Amino acid sequence: MASTNRLSPIPHPPTKPVVGNMLSLDSTAPVQNLARLAKELGPIFWLDMMGAPLVIVSGHDLVEELSDEKRFDKAVRGPLRRVRAIAGDGLFTANTSEPNWSKAHNILLQPFGNRAMQSYHPSMVDIADQLVKKWERLNADEEIDVVHDMTALTLDTIGLCGFDYRFNSFYRRDYHPFVESLVRSLETIMMIRGLPMENLWMQKRRRDLAGDVAFMNKMVDEIVAERRKNAEAAEDKKDMLGAMMTGVDRATGEQLDDVNIRYQINTFLIAGHETTSGLLSCTLYALLKHPDVLKKAYEEVDRVLGPDIDAKPSYQQVTQLTYITQILKEALRLWPPAPAYGISPLKDETIGGKYKLKKNTFVTVLVLALHRDASVWGPNPDAFDPENFSREAEAARPVNAWKPFGNGQRACIGRGFAMHEAALAIGMILQRFKLIDVNRYQMHLKETLTIKPDGFKIKVRPRTDRDRGAYTGRTTTTAAASSAAPAPRARTRPGHNTPLLVLYGSNLGTAEELATRVADLAEVNGFSTKLAPLDDFVGKLPEQGGVLIFCASYNGAPPDNATQFVKWLGSDLPSVRLRQQRLAGDLSVDPALHRRSTGGARRQQCLCARRGRRTRRSRRPVRILVRETASAGGEAIRPRHQFRSQRRRRAAVHDRAGGAISGQCDRGTWRRRADEGAGQHRIAEQDRGQRLG
Ligand code: HEM
Repeated sequence: MASTNRLSPIPHPPTKPVVGNMLSLDSTAPVQNLARLAKELGPIFWLDMMGAPLVIVSGHDLVEELSDEKRFDKAVRGPLRRVRAIAGDGLFTANTSEPNWSKAHNILLQPFGNRAMQSYHPSMVDIADQLVKKWERLNADEEIDVVHDMTALTLDTIGLCGFDYRFNSFYRRDYHPFVESLVRSLETIMMIRGLPMENLWMQKRRRDLAGDVAFMNKMVDEIVAERRKNAEAAEDKKDMLGAMMTGVDRATGEQLDDVNIRYQINTFLIAGHETTSGLLSCTLYALLKHPDVLKKAYEEVDRVLGPDIDAKPSYQQVTQLTYITQILKEALRLWPPAPAYGISPLKDETIGGKYKLKKNTFVTVLVLALHRDASVWGPNPDAFDPENFSREAEAARPVNAWKPFGNGQRACIGRGFAMHEAALAIGMILQRFKLIDVNRYQMHLKETLTIKPDGFKIKVRPRTDRDRGAYTGRTTTTAAASSAAPAPRARTRPGHNTPLLVLYGSNLGTAEELATRVADLAEVNGFSTKLAPLDDFVGKLPEQGGVLIFCASYNGAPPDNATQFVKWLGSDLPSVRLRQQRLAGDLSVDPALHRRSTGGARRQQCLCARRGRRTRRSRRPVRILVRETASAGGEAIRPRHQFRSQRRRRAAVHDRAGGAISGQCDRGTWRRRADEGAGQHRIAEQDRGQRLG
């Protein structure tokens, strides 16, 4: 029976007998219905789903509370629960408590890390090139079905990067049979609502679902079996499948079994194609509707990628498409492809000071409405404005006001993958084409598991050199440039062989990459350099030379290869040892003090600030410099240093990878400079005039 408002004071729309609010939502657009209800009922309301309450939250201050992972965890319920028919206990559909979730999470952080992105970059370019080639060859009267082509792009990209399989979508009229099965299955899953008698009229659909799932599983199992058979030949394959077959979970020492690998592959195909294609389609829509934004986007593309369309964009060039990234983030705000996610309280909770939620209540965070909360986004939250994602605007905003990738440890593992793939595709499209809004399309969202524009078609025309009038010359490497990090150079200065130990803590590879680059730089400048993970030096920091530490923090915890080191730092032992060493700075992982978000960059306080007195009195020659990097959730490097002291303020300023680093500590100003242009690198420290190198 539909209940009275038993969750009062949480508002509640009228209900019908037996089904409650089950039929109140239009089954073809449930999320948009919910967003409309949120406008009427406010930042929190609940629906009666045949007796079970479903609480919908869209106010940013309430979402801030719901983002606390100590109080709330992901809830695999509703349609997501039914997706387990395809994705089993793969990352997306597993409960956090299932052993395979943490095992796969630990193993897959690496193949979704920044370093891995660099190795996928050529495959991404390969597929994006197929897209633009197709568009180049269209006749003037031919329209482009944007969602179709974006789906082809994203599917083929995840197929190639994920398990070295070519769906060849640009060479077929229809999608690959696997994709047909996947789409049909997801449609059926979305139609099932658990209504009385539903099984009767869904019989055929359910039979087809079983057949489709069997077909998909067979195909993926064959790919895995084939790879196992030819393991040696595939040794150099740097795809996700390779990482899953060889990866070991450091916590348990276990590997993923083949059934779970199959579920992960199905998961990547589901999670990886509809979402990113929705993002790309909405972005193209926004560009067409905002000529001023489009103009700035063209300017950036012309400046970064240049006019030569035969040159393939390098990894670094794509990372320099910062305005395009702002546009993508704004598109994710207005049309988040995953428009809602589910959580539930781990125990009875009260949020907003008055809304009581019983343990396990199903709560939906309605991202679509959260992203238009006028108290965060201003009086006109529906307006498309990439300046919402300027550095300053992002820093000033509450962290949990923008959640297109979900929350905390259950946030999207493919975020970095999607953002790189999308920036590359938009970059390559704008480098070549003028976009034409041939039908004066107005956004109409189609809902499946995701949202995307329905019936959106455009035409394109090649850009000419005249169109590229704003081009001002390439500022970066050309296609010939390697997409990987620069190789170590031969020494350019006579070696003074000062020992330098460069330590890193890194899950996703960003901190490791920075450490490697600085180690290379130091080597070039005559240091005798050693590079290692932090855990290799627990309790044995050298007493001669310098130590540099690069460490990310991940959802408030140290990276896997720094856990022992951080534990050691927290024990009494190191304080005795560190007292013997001069610190220019070091870091601790202290979520309570430094946490800015559960999924993004965080600030960390310099430990030497707390040990200021000790530091100044110390006379031993070991120097520890630290650079903090943020790589949580695969986000691009966003170094933020804050050194604070009760006695004096310290500040360190540095740019993205490899630029000037300078700072102040109680021994004076220290500074490192990378003078790439002159082919010479200098690491210098102004410490009572003492130069290290
Ligand atoms: C614009 C593109 C994307 C968006 C908007 C997006 C959004 C999301 C969201 C909201 C979640 C959390 C869902 C929840 O809490 O129930 C999620 C999780 C996930 N996504 Fe994505 N996603 C995108 C692209 C990708 C890609 C390209 C991949 C893989 C290739 C991927 C793989 C996953 C996986 C495996 C999870 C589950 C993570 C876990 O729980 O451990 N996603 N995504």
